[in-house]
Amino acid sequence: MARQTGNGTPAGVAWWKRGIVYQIYPLSFQDSNGDGKGDLNGIRQRLDYLVWLGVDAIWISPIYPSPMADFGYDVSDYRAIAAQFGTLEQFDALVQEAHAHGLRVILDFVPNHASDQHPWFLLSRSERDNPKRDWYIWRDPAPGGGPPNNWISNFGGSAWTLDPATGQYYHHAFLAEQPDLNWHNPQVRAAMLDVLRFWMERGVDGFRIDVLWHLAKDPQLRDNPPNPGYQPGDADIRCLLQVYSCDQPDIHDIVTGLRAVLDEYPDRVMIGEIYLPVERLVAYYGGGRGVHLPFNFQLIEASWNASELDHMVHEYDSLVPQEEWPNWVPGNHDKPRIASRVGEAQARVAAMLLLTLRGTPTMYYGDELGMCDVSIPSERVQDPWEKNEPGLGLGRDPQRTPMQWDTAPNAGFSTGLPWLPLAHDHDTHNVDCLGRDPSSILALYRRLIALRRESATLTSGRYARVAAGTQIMAYTRERADERMLVVLNLGHAPDALALPGLQGEVMLSTRLDREGEKVSDRVELRGDEGVIVRMVR
Ligand code: GLC
Repeated sequence: MARQTGNGTPAGVAWWKRGIVYQIYPLSFQDSNGDGKGDLNGIRQRLDYLVWLGVDAIWISPIYPSPMADFGYDVSDYRAIAAQFGTLEQFDALVQEAHAHGLRVILDFVPNHASDQHPWFLLSRSERDNPKRDWYIWRDPAPGGGPPNNWISNFGGSAWTLDPATGQYYHHAFLAEQPDLNWHNPQVRAAMLDVLRFWMERGVDGFRIDVLWHLAKDPQLRDNPPNPGYQPGDADIRCLLQVYSCDQPDIHDIVTGLRAVLDEYPDRVMIGEIYLPVERLVAYYGGGRGVHLPFNFQLIEASWNASELDHMVHEYDSLVPQEEWPNWVPGNHDKPRIASRVGEAQARVAAMLLLTLRGTPTMYYGDELGMCDVSIPSERVQDPWEKNEPGLGLGRDPQRTPMQWDTAPNAGFSTGLPWLPLAHDHDTHNVDCLGRDPSSILALYRRLIALRRESATLTSGRYARVAAGTQIMAYTRERADERMLVVLNLGHAPDALALPGLQGEVMLSTRLDREGEKVSDRVELRGDEGVIVRMVR
């Protein structure tokens, strides 16, 4: 690979531990053929940007053939590329060029469910005794009729759909167009493991595994109990506690099988999408035989205040097993954007937090521009969840709008009509304009990334919390004889952290104007400011 790691990076540390992952939602990144939807050649055109930004790996959301009922998370062929994104040859060229740029490529692997148009499912539903019948989860109606149990789809309504021709129901944790595969069937496992090999043979560096904790269901398919915390206006899925429909004991056996295949190839990474409480999340490390990085979504779910964040970071850091590696994810294509959740000023503090914590950071495209959720007029809604359960604020289109590149029409994303509308501020909030403004959030991201890359302490040093006031969160990162202090003001008013005996020098402020400033005994912060201090003592 052309690009070397930062000077300070300790030798022998796996790339996915020292690197930064950048999620590309391919429909929205860069369109190269004017159809209003992003594609592989578009991504290829923007590799230089990713290198300039300083990230190490791209995770690309699904690019496989799909009827797009759930925008690619309904795969109809696991071993090909959707025509709207390009061809297999273009994919190979992208991987090759990304590698030449020093960038790793992580694909999305969607094993829990396939499209109802996948040939496997067409066969499975064709007749009860088709050999593929058991590749999916088919059950007779409940005695007296109706679905076999009370499970609810994540997108609302029953998680079962009746196939009138064969008189049985099939299970789908998501849309009816996304029937769940039966991972208890060894043939399914073998076929899916071969899919991983297929892409690794093409040079793919790893996988982000979609809804990993869903793969194993209760063999008896028992009813889920009601959720006492359910409130009217919540998503349908919250009606029940997901006790039997996911995170079952044999999931770890399945994960071990996936990991064993990853280990057939050198230097690959397996990342799991898992929404579970931390104690259950860390079980997915599987004592070195599970996923390398079970996605940690706590930065998405936490309330944005100093005490909660401090508690959460401390607890997580102590629960991740010694020999395993933590990770942090502040946003993705399913959740409101960080800048909308915490506000423009705190989005800078969030950037500093993400890029100074111990653990692999995953960035969501456009967050480096401070992109916000875009309100989508009803006639342009795309997301099936919003269509199924309208008006509850569940739709995911707002965080999937096109990347804002420059001042050209449609922010340089496409010459055609973009599949989703752009943010109103795209004329000023784009890579080109912010890239030339040394005080911009984009400049801050670049500086933070550059500092992290060159600092072994920030990439792999120990973390320790520092007691601070109600508005300030502080911690150190330490390695060999170097110690960095990170002090973040989570409030809008000025504040200070008193640390008698402290001597140090400001490496970086979220305002980008204090580099080199000496500090002693206390660190003064403006509202919404964070600083990184190299400690002398
Ligand atoms: C994951 C994806 C989400 C998708 C769902 C069903 O949560 O991130 O976008 O809708 O799985 O595949």
